[in-house]
Amino acid sequence: MKEYATLTIDGKELKLPVIIGTEGEKAIDIRSLRQETGCITYDPGFANTGSCKSKITFMNGEKGILRHRGIPIEQLAEKSSFVETSYLIMHGHLPTRKELTRTSIMLNDQSMVHEDMQFFFQNYPRLSHPMGILSAMVNALRSFYPEIITTQEEFEKVFIRLLSKVRTMAAMSYKISRGHKVIYPRTDYTYCANFLNMMFDSPVNPYRLDRDVVKALNTFWILHADHEQNCSTSAVKTVGSSQANVYASISAGITALWGPLHGGANQAVIEMLTAIHKKGVGISEVVEKAKNRRSSFRLMGFGHRVYKTYDPRAKIMKKVCDKVLPKLKINDPLLEIAKQLEEVALSDQYFVDKNLYPNVDFYSGILLRAMGIPTNMFPVMFAIGRLPGWIAQWKENMDDKEQKITRPRQIYTGLNKSPYIPISKRDSDSEDDSDY
Ligand code: SDX
Repeated sequence: MKEYATLTIDGKELKLPVIIGTEGEKAIDIRSLRQETGCITYDPGFANTGSCKSKITFMNGEKGILRHRGIPIEQLAEKSSFVETSYLIMHGHLPTRKELTRTSIMLNDQSMVHEDMQFFFQNYPRLSHPMGILSAMVNALRSFYPEIITTQEEFEKVFIRLLSKVRTMAAMSYKISRGHKVIYPRTDYTYCANFLNMMFDSPVNPYRLDRDVVKALNTFWILHADHEQNCSTSAVKTVGSSQANVYASISAGITALWGPLHGGANQAVIEMLTAIHKKGVGISEVVEKAKNRRSSFRLMGFGHRVYKTYDPRAKIMKKVCDKVLPKLKINDPLLEIAKQLEEVALSDQYFVDKNLYPNVDFYSGILLRAMGIPTNMFPVMFAIGRLPGWIAQWKENMDDKEQKITRPRQIYTGLNKSPYIPISKRDSDSEDDSDY
């Protein structure tokens, strides 16, 4: 039975249809609102606004639930691989063995990047942030692959190309930034093992793969694979909605993710923990500073637009840290500081009242440090993990017949109609009417 919401404005009553999702969440369909009432809604940051219907990811922020195509993140993190989860997110079902093998072969076939790209990296300003480089290089992929996507098969090839080449580009960019020899992908290595080898292998010091580290990287990227309509995914879909190509759309996602309030938080968390460690700042002092409304300082890695309880991904990330660091015989003081910070914050009324809990970024940097990933590459690691989500959400949006070009409205609060004033009249002491 259809459900409606009733809105009364300017003495007029409007019945608005209610859309109900498969998990019972409700949305008021306001598509007729402006036409019927002349009004728009006002919702900065779209905290209460649904931009689409989607079958890819379900989140319940109050209960800390995250599922991809219905499968709980806890089960994927424990039992799946990043490639398998990427397939699930993209295709809507877990792959058969044959489908998984075909995907792995395609990832290998697409793992190299055009040799010309090395010149791009070598001539990019040396002190550039890896996210700026990555965003530019992903945009550059369009120049190597200008074909327009018309079939599902062509789209899957683009999906595989981005998933494989962005990983290679990230490692290549790192090697070149250090003046080291570029290590090429190997067809006998799995996706994650290949990345680690491209990052850390060298002719003089061969990199030895550690099964637990490879598993940890799979888990890290699974935990980042998609997160419904977050800032960077919305950026990808907004750019795609103008029919800009998929590489430009993904490049926009990388750029949006870079911000410290979003994917750049994993880097900001480590910088915060490092500052606490180096300066010996008291945990309580840090928490107090984060509570001070006059201070712009925030407890990085804490809080979330949707999760009003512990981010389920943070729980898993913390367990992985507890397992991998001892295995690698790493005793990172920042992990202890992070745990103390969590303990103090979670018992503080300010954080309790505002439902501020650790999010995916709070422990992820600790794990990346243990793997040897440089801090300024942490957002790049997030971006690689988010690729399947961005691409799948972009495709879902392009296929959604209800979708249009993204173009929100506004409430104007500027000057009312005003006359043009010649420059001679603007400066009280000037008679000069000449142009600039
Ligand atoms: C990601 O959306 C996604 O799904 C994102 C993500 C994904 O997978 O794509 O999960 C990845 O981006 C995780 C978030 C990473 N960012 C950080 O850790 C940065 C620190 N966190 C905050 O800046 C903040 O919590 C946000 C940006 C994450 C969420 O911001 P909101 O939803 O806009 O909430 P808000 O800024 O309105 O905060 C509500 C209140 C405010 O106080 P009041 O104005 O009500 O008095 O809580 C306070 C805020 O000042 N607050 C914090 C805080 N986060 C919110 N106070 C101190 N420290 C914090 N971290």
